[in-house]
Amino acid sequence: MILPKKMRPLLFLVSQMAIFALFFHLYGHSFNSLPTKEEPKPMHVLVLSSWRSGSSFVGQLFGQHPDVFYLMEPAWHIWTTFTQSTAWRLHMAVRDLIRAVFLCDMSVFDAYMKPGPRRQSSLFQWENSRALCSPPACNIFSRDMIIPQAHCKLLCNQQPFEVVEKACRSYSHVVLKEVRFFNLQVLYPLLRDPSLNLHIVHLVRDPRAVFRSREHTAGELMIDSRIVMGEHWEKLKEEEQPYYVMQVICQSQLEIYKAVQSLPKALRQRYMLIRYEDLVRDPIAQTAQMYKYVGLKFLPHLQTWVYNITRGKGMGNHAFHTNARNALNVSQAWRWTLPYQKVSRLQKVCNDTMTLLGYHLVRSEQEQKNLSLDLLSTWTPSK
Ligand SMILES: *[C@@H]1O[C@H](CO)[C@@H](O)[C@H](O)[C@H]1NC(C)=O
Ligand SMILES: *[C@@H]1O[C@H](CO)[C@@H](O)[C@H](O)[C@H]1NC(C)=O
Ligand SMILES: *[C@@H]1O[C@H](CO)[C@@H](O)[C@H](O)[C@H]1NC(C)=O
Ligand SMILES: *[C@@H]1O[C@H](CO)[C@@H](O)[C@H](O)[C@H]1NC(C)=O
Repeated sequence: MILPKKMRPLLFLVSQMAIFALFFHLYGHSFNSLPTKEEPKPMHVLVLSSWRSGSSFVGQLFGQHPDVFYLMEPAWHIWTTFTQSTAWRLHMAVRDLIRAVFLCDMSVFDAYMKPGPRRQSSLFQWENSRALCSPPACNIFSRDMIIPQAHCKLLCNQQPFEVVEKACRSYSHVVLKEVRFFNLQVLYPLLRDPSLNLHIVHLVRDPRAVFRSREHTAGELMIDSRIVMGEHWEKLKEEEQPYYVMQVICQSQLEIYKAVQSLPKALRQRYMLIRYEDLVRDPIAQTAQMYKYVGLKFLPHLQTWVYNITRGKGMGNHAFHTNARNALNVSQAWRWTLPYQKVSRLQKVCNDTMTLLGYHLVRSEQEQKNLSLDLLSTWTPSK
């Protein structure tokens, strides 16, 4: 194309304007997509624990807070989909599911639920989430009340699945409780993910108490135990199985704790260790500490509620319910119900973990039954 000389500067000007317009369009767009006011980023809290370690109780402490969207063990859906797999093979799927749920993307459950219409009640233990029992998920209860699971289950079970995502997006804190992580490495990408603000509450419990509690719920834990042990499961004698499972659990709790110590300082601050026994000895103070760590206010009605439930007022007894009935006594029950021979064997299996976490070993039946002997070290491993 031949242009008259006079036109050339004009064309140059037009092309420069076009480039500028394009630039403005591209960048202006992304400027506009930023929130006009700097909105505080949601806080993502992972209650990392194992079975029968008081994690339902800790989950409830978070879940009943009016600023918290809570889900209990979302990875249950993965494990029950792949019952012949192993914990290690499912690790990444569990990690990716947790990440999606933190970001309120509930489409991630598509892979693990039956096709077709579903309700919020399709979610495992959904009624344990106060957020799914109050607006915008369900208009029957108000957001700032303590909602009993049984009432919620009865009155909010017809809500469509879509309300889960909507509810999730309306909270400043998303808290997930999970028992299906066996090391910390799998969580590193989430700790470093700039779209997340991940904080870990690592809840541990005396393995002897866990062992006793697992004996009482062996049937319910069967499928999970099989996945934990993988191919080894079938080769083990039935009476050996509980010790091997405990060995894996103790080892993974230990590794998680140790891995934290080698993290950079900035990441170490995203980890809090809590012993169940410390929590039942002083529930108000320990709860206050957990709330403070994740930036939640310890509201007066929550203080009364925590006080009440740890003194045996209300709440059920079933394996998946929060059993806080005389929690202090329950936490010691293994001392008069487990035979010393079992305790001794378990102590061999979990020796390192118990030593590191401050659970004193007993050397005789006499020591085990002597309740004036305190087996909890006052040294708190990490704060
Ligand atoms: C605590 O218990 C008292 C006495 O049983 C009861 O009146 C009160 O409503 C309870 N409060 C909460 C928040 O559970
Ligand atoms: C704790 O439980 C045991 C066994 O059920 C019982 O013998 C004991 O009296 C209880 N102690 C307290 C302080 O409730
Ligand atoms: C536990 O480990 C320590 C140090 O390795 C050892 O001295 C102790 O005998 C072990 N105890 C048991 C009960 O295995
Ligand atoms: C129980 O332990 C306490 C504290 O160590 C000790 O003083 C007491 O003698 C022990 N009692 C028995 C019967 O072993």
